[in-house]
Amino acid sequence: MARIALVTGGIGGIGTAICEELRGRGFKVVAGYYPPEQEQAEEGQKKHAAEGREYEIASGDVSSFEDSQKMISDIESRLGPVDVLINCAGITRDKTFKKMEPNQWKAVLSTNLDSIFNVTRQVVNGMMERGWGRIVNISSVNGQRGQFGQTNYSAAKAGAHGFTMALAQEVVRKGVTVNTVSPGYIATEMTEAMGEEVQQQIISEIPMGRMGTPDEVAYLVGILCDDRACYITGANYEVNGGLFMSF
Ligand code: CAA
Repeated sequence: MARIALVTGGIGGIGTAICEELRGRGFKVVAGYYPPEQEQAEEGQKKHAAEGREYEIASGDVSSFEDSQKMISDIESRLGPVDVLINCAGITRDKTFKKMEPNQWKAVLSTNLDSIFNVTRQVVNGMMERGWGRIVNISSVNGQRGQFGQTNYSAAKAGAHGFTMALAQEVVRKGVTVNTVSPGYIATEMTEAMGEEVQQQIISEIPMGRMGTPDEVAYLVGILCDDRACYITGANYEVNGGLFMSF
């Protein structure tokens, strides 16, 4: 029986590529989506199915604990337990701090960071009981280095890796690994929203001279979900074209 992989934010730019990577690796993939985006999720599912790429979809507002609980029980009753969780749901509300409103802070923190608690909490005990699991949190280069206009996003994304390191220690003896992948600027709707001028400025700062592609992130996520990646845990991996280097 194929292992089940849930990708939150699974119909977004990076999320879609991760779904496809994991499907190619033999997982039964579920793309989680934000309830107001149901039409888009269903259309995407049909389009992929017509091209021979089958995956399931599941609705849930991951910023809510109750909604996340419902989403997971729906998946469990339809398909079975979740063995792989990719916490990929994320939004931006860029604003310089002097102008940032509480709702912009809260929206980003709850969607990008609370969501990691809300969804992981539903599946981690089962993974430990079954003795196998893979959790990958999608963070960002901007969580590592900070970004002008993103105090909310940078805080949430840095928090994601703190979560990774702490949980990794708690589950390490039960066959469950927890890792972070930190993309740089990837060509998706999220980066497009910055406007042409800001995009060009950012590209000029990237040593590779271009934005990344969703596939380039998904490939790494796929590797971390492999059986042979069992000794890798609590780690952060950068996919950023050289924009930020650390070790
Ligand atoms: N460093 C220093 N100063 C900067 C700056 C920077 N990076 N960017 C802008 N400024 C300066 C401007 O020159 C301007 O200066 P003056 O007031 O002296 O003229 C001032 O800051 C503008 O400040 P405002 O408060 O008026 O800002 P704004 O309304 O013009 O726009 C912003 C601010 C929306 C944050 C805009 O700068 C922006 O979109 N920046 C990009 C943020 C970004 O990188 N977002 C990433 C989105 S993609 C993503 O998040 C995915 C991922 O993981 C990488």
